Amino acid sequence: MKWNPKKYEEFEAQRREPFEELARMVRREPGMRVLDLGCGTGALTAWLHEELGASETLGVDTSAEMLAQAPVDVPGVRFERADIGSLTPGGRYDLIFANAALQWVPEPRAVLTRLIEGLPRGGQLAVQVPVQDDHPSHAIAAELAALPRYAEALGGWVRRTNALDLRTYASLLDAQGMVGIDASVRVFGHHLPGRDALLEWVDGSLLRAYRARLDEGTYAAFVGDYREELARRVPDARPLYYPFTRLLFHATKA
Ligand SMILES: C[S@@+](CC[C@H](N)C(=O)[O-])C[C@H]1O[C@@H](n2cnc3c(N)ncnc32)[C@H](O)[C@@H]1O
Repeated sequence: MKWNPKKYEEFEAQRREPFEELARMVRREPGMRVLDLGCGTGALTAWLHEELGASETLGVDTSAEMLAQAPVDVPGVRFERADIGSLTPGGRYDLIFANAALQWVPEPRAVLTRLIEGLPRGGQLAVQVPVQDDHPSHAIAAELAALPRYAEALGGWVRRTNALDLRTYASLLDAQGMVGIDASVRVFGHHLPGRDALLEWVDGSLLRAYRARLDEGTYAAFVGDYREELARRVPDARPLYYPFTRLLFHATKA
């Protein structure tokens, strides 16, 4: 799936908010080695590195387009193209940080277990995952994808989050020997200029998964239908309040 960094960063201020909230959950220690999973354009990775006073930070992402924007001049920070699904951190990082990334990765239990196994004792895990599938912004796309005219082109595929529920995450952390588990659900209230901005928001994230699987004409029709349905379900308030639910958790390896 191809990300469009420019489009993604249109809502930089709103996307930054949960990232900073997650960073506040991290226990500060001198000279930390940090692994930022699904780092995107890396701007926030560099911010995290400096905020934590880390000794070294590695940002990884599968998207060449996103990584092409990554800063190259921040001492101690580097970036690599790698898939979270097959990473084995091997005890090299004091903090594994994943903001708005794990929901894209299949087999979430196995992946999380492997990441925890790859933490040293005393190592920290900090994760934020969006859980927005039941909001019209996400539900409409899934409903359209199930219609015969799109289901055929998509081969029956529908984008569903790989996020688990919060109790499952907490239980998994406990079972893997993590302590001090701090897990919460939060609604971030974003004020967008209007309904078109909401479409722009999802076009920069969720809808990219459909764009990657549909030809140009079919995708244009899909977005047209999406826009119509959105108009039926979401008022065109200006500004538009967009409540966005996210799970945040932090824990330390005993
Ligand atoms: C919503 S963006 C979040 C970017 C950044 N963490 C932030 O908070 O702004 C999700 C990022 O996860 C990356 N991603 C998705 N699946 C991935 C995988 N399996 N391995 C590595 N990165 C992945 C995408 O390429 C994208 O850059």
